[in-house]
Amino acid sequence: MSRALATTNPKTIQALPSQLDPARMPAHVAVIMDGNGRWAKRRGLPRVMGHREGVEALKRCLRLCSDWGIGALTAYAFSTENWNRPGEEVSFLMTLFERVLARELEALDQEQVRIRFLGDLEPLPSGLRQLISDATARTAANSGIHFNVCTNYGGRAELVHAARRLAERVAQGEIDAASIDEQTFAAELHTAGERDPDLLIRTSGEQRISNFLLWQLAYAELHITDVLWPDFDQQALLAALLDYQGRQRRFGGVDTLPPIPT
Ligand code: FPP
Repeated sequence: MSRALATTNPKTIQALPSQLDPARMPAHVAVIMDGNGRWAKRRGLPRVMGHREGVEALKRCLRLCSDWGIGALTAYAFSTENWNRPGEEVSFLMTLFERVLARELEALDQEQVRIRFLGDLEPLPSGLRQLISDATARTAANSGIHFNVCTNYGGRAELVHAARRLAERVAQGEIDAASIDEQTFAAELHTAGERDPDLLIRTSGEQRISNFLLWQLAYAELHITDVLWPDFDQQALLAALLDYQGRQRRFGGVDTLPPIPT
């Protein structure tokens, strides 16, 4: 059976569940997709089968976010620390990224998804880099959900890279050190041009940020669920969104109004 994103034509759009307030949806959701290995272990399967099933969960989540009017989904697919995993698992993941991207690109493009890969892409296999470059260019002008896949991504590395870039620009006389503010700093991050996530979902019950979007998550609401990533389904996303809508966001102030987006 085809596992392509668009399996039916025309695509069936999932209506927003009535429990959710359409006016209070997050504009940007970030996910730490944890628990793939444990999902596989519980079934007596090799860990990598959890990653394969994790792709299905990611497709499900992306489609639901798109259908429910969420503007951006940012997923943590591979961290700078994930190179420390056994060699076969790293190779499996790289091949999986390649296969999934090659297989899904057509459907993603048709569904107007704009895909970007965030992180230091240089150390990735050249075939994968080529696919990433093609997918990014092909979908750049799409009008739908922004789908950001953090690959060889580390929040600290991203901050160091931004600081270095700004130092270079100061040294070249391009900008004045005194003019560096939050906006100029954010413009040097991989996420430049994207609004900060409103909601971070982490699966499998771990209560950590794990070097993910350290700058961008400053005011995000956190939702931690015991659901393992491959099991993350419509019900789990709905629970996260209901949790989010129950929060009072103050952004360090006293009222619930979000700051004016920059
Ligand atoms: C963490 O679970 C998961 C990962 C490091 C990989 C996530 C990648 C995917 C779901 C594939 C995404 C595919 C594309 C094309 C973007 P874990 O292995 O740490 O689980 P554990 O904590 O139970 O061991």
